[in-house]
Amino acid sequence: MGYKLISTWKMSFHKMSEAKRMLKIKYSLQEIIEAVIMDVEDNPDFHSVGYGGLPNNEGEVELDAGYMDGDSLAFGAVSAVKNIRNPILVASSLTKGKTNNHLTGKGAEKYAKENGFKTRRMLTGKAKEKYLDKVKENSHDTVCVIGKDLNGSMAVGVSTSGLFMKHPGRVGDSPIIGSGFYCDSQIGGVAATGIGEDIMRGCLSISTVNYMRQGLNAQQACEKALFTYLERVNNEPEAISLIALDAKGNYGACSTLADFPFVILDENNEARLMVYLGNEKRIVEADQKWLANYKGD
Ligand code: GLY
Repeated sequence: MGYKLISTWKMSFHKMSEAKRMLKIKYSLQEIIEAVIMDVEDNPDFHSVGYGGLPNNEGEVELDAGYMDGDSLAFGAVSAVKNIRNPILVASSLTKGKTNNHLTGKGAEKYAKENGFKTRRMLTGKAKEKYLDKVKENSHDTVCVIGKDLNGSMAVGVSTSGLFMKHPGRVGDSPIIGSGFYCDSQIGGVAATGIGEDIMRGCLSISTVNYMRQGLNAQQACEKALFTYLERVNNEPEAISLIALDAKGNYGACSTLADFPFVILDENNEARLMVYLGNEKRIVEADQKWLANYKGD
């Protein structure tokens, strides 16, 4: 079975399309996941992740990230960190300890500085302008990447700046194991994007993994987890999307949105931009017409 990768949103396509090259020069699964996420974290044009992310209600950018190794089930996460250039690298480094795997706020920043992770002032002029104008922006798009290498090892990484105008200290689903991400190489991996509070109420990543554990494939498990939860909460959540990859290498995606773009690596290791059409409950490949009409990241 070939190498597998799946990631959220069109914004991840740029680096996913370099996966073939990264594989040729023998990047590990962790390095590929980190590279795809860092590419989005470092891009100031994406206002929901990393540098250029939109700030909290006090004008400060607070970032969340998580990483999980599906072989050992080790996880690492940081939440509400300020001025750390690549939160995903800090999160993945925290998988190494037996304890202290999720660090938050000042403690996480202290750890990052002590361990030589790069710092950067994360608020860009453009993000500050939006903050001052209080422009209402749909900004809860987490970059998530799940992968499976040729040995069957799986891993997942996620990174976000969370909700625009959130309360300082607010933590969403992304750095919370079981809600924003989960991965077990024997079963599969899942990651979520959307309104964190809605995702956490349903612990949607572990819920989806558990459906795969019962024998559903990645697509069936995403649908079962999301639709069962939506029924329970009277279809109230407006923005939840899931991606999944099962241990057999099947991809899955599901969303409450009319259009949820995600990226997969095909059998030739080429990146393909796909779209889950929420109104029609089906997946199509993005074509020129769709790309011309799509305004999001
Ligand atoms: N899903 C990202 C957040 O709500 O913070």
